[in-house]
Amino acid sequence: MRLDKYLAHNNYGTRKEVRSIIKEKRVIVNGEVVTNAGEILNINEDEISVDGLTINYVENVYYMMNKPQNYECTHIEDKYPSVLELLPTNHKDLFFVGRLDVDTEGLLLITNDGQFSHRIAHGNKDIYKTYYVGLKDTFDKTFISELQQGIPLDGELLKPAKVEIVEDKVILLSIGEGKYHQVKRMMHYCNNEVTYLKRISIGNLKLDESLNLGEYRMLTHEEIALF
Ligand code: URA
Repeated sequence: MRLDKYLAHNNYGTRKEVRSIIKEKRVIVNGEVVTNAGEILNINEDEISVDGLTINYVENVYYMMNKPQNYECTHIEDKYPSVLELLPTNHKDLFFVGRLDVDTEGLLLITNDGQFSHRIAHGNKDIYKTYYVGLKDTFDKTFISELQQGIPLDGELLKPAKVEIVEDKVILLSIGEGKYHQVKRMMHYCNNEVTYLKRISIGNLKLDESLNLGEYRMLTHEEIALF
């Protein structure tokens, strides 16, 4: 594997950022300073360190994807292709951290770190997910206080939601759970219908808007630490 790719994979930054780390002579391979970003490593044998700290090859992967419509969060393809096809290698051991519907776009986390996934999906901390919601009809503001208190769904009360009106037919909705078709069902409760749905954040992690639909990148150390 190329040195710059290896460092990026180990969350030392983007390819551009790791190239400057390499240029700054902070990377040592088998006792020698290496300044060539394209140096080919034998990751099973070479000893690589940055700023004097040896890297243990990270087997966990954490992808942020800007999910496009017409792709499914699935391991078994049916009608639509799987979002996993958009990744460089198709790992079998990947988890979707909160699935998105086939017609939903936006922030999707994919990892092989089961504990990370569990912390976000079922942890004690309230991790709110925010959606940009396009609606068929003007949003009826009389529902705001009900949503803020928690509406009933599946026979139980949802956590208080946060609502921000963007335009007559567009709201930002933040929810504390990740129930099946939750936003769509919440909008039905408000006598409306979702025409466009995009997840824009999970907790303090925002969708990287430089990612085009279908593109992905690794999470940085700081982003992983948010959870
Ligand atoms: N709520 C929905 O209805 N669909 C999604 O994809 C995510 C949240």
